[in-house]
Amino acid sequence: MNSVDCYSRIEGGMHAALESLDADVELEEVLSYALFPCGKLIRPRLVAAIGEVISGPRWDTILPATVSLELLHCASLVHDDLPALDDDQMRRGRASCHAKFGEARALLAGDFLASFAIQWAAKSQLSDAAQMVEICTVLSGAYSRVMQGQLLDLDSTLKRKDLLGIYKLKTGALFEAAFLLGVLQHKCYVELKEKALLCGQAFGVLYQLIDDFLDVNAPSSLTGREVRSDQKNERYNPFCSSDGISAGSLMQEAKKNFLMLYGELKNALRISRVGGTTFEPLDRMIETVLSKDKFSK
Ligand code: IPE
Ligand code: IPE
Ligand code: MG
Ligand code: MG
Ligand code: MG
Repeated sequence: MNSVDCYSRIEGGMHAALESLDADVELEEVLSYALFPCGKLIRPRLVAAIGEVISGPRWDTILPATVSLELLHCASLVHDDLPALDDDQMRRGRASCHAKFGEARALLAGDFLASFAIQWAAKSQLSDAAQMVEICTVLSGAYSRVMQGQLLDLDSTLKRKDLLGIYKLKTGALFEAAFLLGVLQHKCYVELKEKALLCGQAFGVLYQLIDDFLDVNAPSSLTGREVRSDQKNERYNPFCSSDGISAGSLMQEAKKNFLMLYGELKNALRISRVGGTTFEPLDRMIETVLSKDKFSK
């Protein structure tokens, strides 16, 4: 499946999830605003790209779980922008959810989305009950770790001390889930699990460092908010701090670490693969994300 088809497939799945709700009009409006227009859909597209390596077009047996991952991500963004956290007025080039609907509605919509996501994941059509339990465990566990990371992220002193530890939680957790869901249908899932998890976590750390980098260096047409919004919101960003942390080298290290783990995961998949699979779409997606540091001065 090419990347445009994949994007539309996931977007369609998100519409189906929302339409399945018997929510009142007011709630539906807030939920719809939090989800659409969709963002880059990186996490569910990773599930699909890894899933295709393993099971070809059959990856979409777990489309509901794949969609759930994006619902969890959107819930985390709604909460991330709240005044008590980043206090951000902009998201994806327009007013953030609370700026548009007020704090109470944004808070409740985020909670609603997070719990509904797990309910929706259970719609995946797998005959193996243990796999269904695994899906829900992976998703709910990941979301609670995002919250742990977000909590630690509030303290900028702590953040200076253990930046990568916090990034592993707040951003790494959902990427871990993406890689785990990607390999879930593999016959050697149990053996592959640890490698997939570490690889997803490393990707998440790198993804967050790139996000921090872009906040400082990229135009607002790309980030959907003001340049240096972290600094304006008094949020610690290693790319504009004067504490001697070399954020650039941290990012290069994180890239190296991820590429090593990704190589290991690919080797493990090659050894145990089922058919004539190709890594090309997955490689291309990863390369697109990794090349975002091109705004480097
Ligand atoms: C933004 O995530 C938040 C981070 C964890 C860095 P994305 O870059 O995936 O945001 P959208 O969903 O595409 O807008
Ligand atoms: C990641 O951190 C947010 C979550 C883990 C939800 P940021 O606060 O940097 O994300 P953006 O830049 O607001 O999207
Ligand atoms: Mg934040
Ligand atoms: Mg934020
Ligand atoms: Mg950011």
